Amino acid sequence: MTENFEPQIVGFCCKYCAYAAADLAGSMRISYPPNIKIIQVPCTGRIDVIHILKALEEGADGVMVAGCLEGECHFLEGNFKARARVNSVKKILDEIRLEPDRVVMYNLSSAMGPRFAEICQDMAEKITMLGPSPMKKIKETGAA
Ligand code: FES
Repeated sequence: MTENFEPQIVGFCCKYCAYAAADLAGSMRISYPPNIKIIQVPCTGRIDVIHILKALEEGADGVMVAGCLEGECHFLEGNFKARARVNSVKKILDEIRLEPDRVVMYNLSSAMGPRFAEICQDMAEKITMLGPSPMKKIKETGAA
């Protein structure tokens, strides 16, 4: 782990659950790490492999995808598709020798404000342990 490392994490959050849970956490005044840059999406099923890889390429140290509970996606199977895509990205990262744990899928409901804060904390700790993304260094120096 690098000293004073503050991970930059992109959180793709479904507006029906994770984004609403983030709002709830705020209303409940539950604090969570500020390292997560939340991007609201209409459903995690809209997140494609390229979106996750692009976030990493642009400097994110980690990416979390947070969708509705299994069986509760408003578009029926969006969160299952998202999980499959997250797993595909993990395989790609493994093949290029990056830590697959930099990308994580979570499921929660809009009523889970405290859980949202927990997953943000979990993600921030996980990525802090992994350290800065090697892709960030490549981007900054142009070195391969
Ligand atoms: Fe929330 Fe699909 S509507 S994951």
